[in-house]
Amino acid sequence: MIKLKFEYSYLKDFEHLADIGVIEEEVISKANELLARNGLGNNYLGWIDLPENISDELINDIEQTAEKIRKQSDVVVVIGIGGSYVGARAIIEALKPEYSMPFYKGNKPVILYAGNNLSSGYHKHIIDYVSDKDFSVIVISKSGTTTEPAIAFRIFRDILEKKYGTDGASDRIVAITDKSKGALKTFCNKRNIKTFVIPDDVGGRYSVLTPVGLLPVAIAELDIRKLLHGAKQMQKTCTNNADFVNHPVIEYVAVRNILYRLGKQIEILVSYNPEMRYFVEWWKQLFGESEGKQGEGIYPAGVDFTTDLHSLGQYIQDGQRIIFETIIDVENPKSKVYIPSDEDNLDNMDFVSGKNLNDINKMAMLGSLYAHIDGDVPVVRVVLPELNEETMGELIYFFEFACGVSGYVLGVNPFDQPGVEAYKRNMYALLDKPGYEEEGIRLRSRME
Ligand code: PA5
Repeated sequence: MIKLKFEYSYLKDFEHLADIGVIEEEVISKANELLARNGLGNNYLGWIDLPENISDELINDIEQTAEKIRKQSDVVVVIGIGGSYVGARAIIEALKPEYSMPFYKGNKPVILYAGNNLSSGYHKHIIDYVSDKDFSVIVISKSGTTTEPAIAFRIFRDILEKKYGTDGASDRIVAITDKSKGALKTFCNKRNIKTFVIPDDVGGRYSVLTPVGLLPVAIAELDIRKLLHGAKQMQKTCTNNADFVNHPVIEYVAVRNILYRLGKQIEILVSYNPEMRYFVEWWKQLFGESEGKQGEGIYPAGVDFTTDLHSLGQYIQDGQRIIFETIIDVENPKSKVYIPSDEDNLDNMDFVSGKNLNDINKMAMLGSLYAHIDGDVPVVRVVLPELNEETMGELIYFFEFACGVSGYVLGVNPFDQPGVEAYKRNMYALLDKPGYEEEGIRLRSRME
């Protein structure tokens, strides 16, 4: 059943550990509020039941669509931003990183991501790459009006239409969007394009277990049933409040909030496996957009160790004491690489010869863990036995539930994102979008 383990014994050196029992009661009451569905943002709680509620019909449709797209494509361009993009990438890069590597054993289709930024350099590379290949587009936008994916969709649709004609292009596009609203839905209806629905009551950053995440993940030949099964196991224990005593989610929320109250304003999610880089990005997006409100919120940061031990490691060890660390510890990484022996030993590295690289990585993890504790950086660990679809499903649900509860502990609505509108308004004004003229005049006068 639940394989994920939460470990905070590394906090033992911290005198305030005793307070965790007190805050735990508060966390349990917030978890119950979430489950009672009468707290802030309660019209966006559809994600709670997703793993259990998803129908077989929908799963079949996703799998069949993925198979069709796979067959007809050398490249699949997944267009989306924020919650409409990073979850799928997190799972694919963690479990099938070869799908992002065009050079990897002729793997097909290559999956590339567009519309998650506005860089012409970034997009030009993708445009050039697809120009002589058969490709398809998955466009994901709940609102159907977000600027970055809308622009990328225009660009790649244009290339598709020039290559395959209007109907041929429509056959190579799948959209995931609102069931009835938004420009994307209108466009798809007009062109008879296949669509999947993002449920009304599921916000972008909680949507990875809807077609938003499931379709791209299925295209990468990952088993979405296993992913959902893992999530469902975690859902069962998170939604049964009889299980709340010593529950890893409750403990995690309690620990991070007590540390926050003690001045640890930054939580760094640490991975020792670069395949998890986008999982860290997903986590940052989930917590950053959910908790950073009304002057509150733990700032979610991320590092890739041991790489970043040679850069940010200095700050973590020795800079301002406002950080705590959560390590994603994969106990048994699948790949094994052994260090060859060398009779001459001119590099003086004989002490590791014959060892598995993973075991050395583990010692680096334990070494930095104790170094950081000694430097007053509390460390917690989320332990996965291995990386696979089921454990990823568990981990995703674990953090989603934790995020909802933690938002309530902080007293914010974890399901809205009013702060992201400010930049959009300014950008529209500067781009002369109709309706933003006055704002444009005001902004330009500030630039003089
Ligand atoms: O979590 C969120 O709600 C956001 O990050 C959205 O997913 C992101 O802004 C993209 O929005 P949309 O799917 O409407 O294009």
